[in-house]
Amino acid sequence: MHKNILVIGGTGMLSDASYELAQQSDVFTSVARTKESLNRFNQRLVNVNTEHHTLSLNWDDKESFISTLRQHINVIGVPDMVVTWLHRSAFIGELSRLFVQTEREVIIYQVLGSSVTNPGKANDIADTVADGINYHQIVLGFTVESGQSRWLRNEEISAGVIAAIKRNQQTYIVGQLEPWSLRP
Ligand SMILES: NC(=O)c1ccc[n+]([C@@H]2O[C@H](COP(=O)([O-])OP(=O)(O)OC[C@H]3O[C@@H](n4cnc5c(N)ncnc54)[C@H](OP(=O)(O)O)[C@@H]3O)[C@@H](O)[C@H]2O)c1
Repeated sequence: MHKNILVIGGTGMLSDASYELAQQSDVFTSVARTKESLNRFNQRLVNVNTEHHTLSLNWDDKESFISTLRQHINVIGVPDMVVTWLHRSAFIGELSRLFVQTEREVIIYQVLGSSVTNPGKANDIADTVADGINYHQIVLGFTVESGQSRWLRNEEISAGVIAAIKRNQQTYIVGQLEPWSLRP
């Protein structure tokens, strides 16, 4: 069990996954841009027995995002597990340095859109992550039903993220990325 969990960008399509992770935690931090999405998610946790912290931060203001997160970690402790759905995927390098510990390896799961299938992009992102972090990628794909392809629904994405965390593979694809020509 991961006791202290931090999720960045988990109040939207990842809300079901965030909810499940919150149930497994003692301390849970949600980072999102708006107070509205954070309050909505906080209400979902009304019967969940965790200490829920909400941080309204904009990753477009990187310095403030990192420094506020650093201050928060100084108060609640370094998380055991971090899940991120960052629209600035390259930001993970700088972010990861916040979680480097001498006594244990923090696990980071980074959720990535299909655009990382561009040659080498996923590896380029992974290369920026700080040493000493147990880093994983969860790549969102599409699905094919009765010969028709479509992008994944929110609940499928959340279920896929939870499955990825259970499997703990270095890279996990939710749905499929191949054949790429079949993408919606
Ligand atoms: N195969 C694929 O690649 C694939 C699959 C499914 C979906 N998608 C794409 O993903 C999209 C849905 O994802 P989405 O990211 O738009 O919505 P979302 O996951 O529903 O919401 C984005 C999350 O990130 C937060 N966030 C957004 N901007 C932020 C910022 N500047 N600073 C801090 N937090 C921020 C949001 O908080 P707030 O709500 O408070 O802003 C929310 O928690 C779909 O439209 C689709 O294009 C791709």
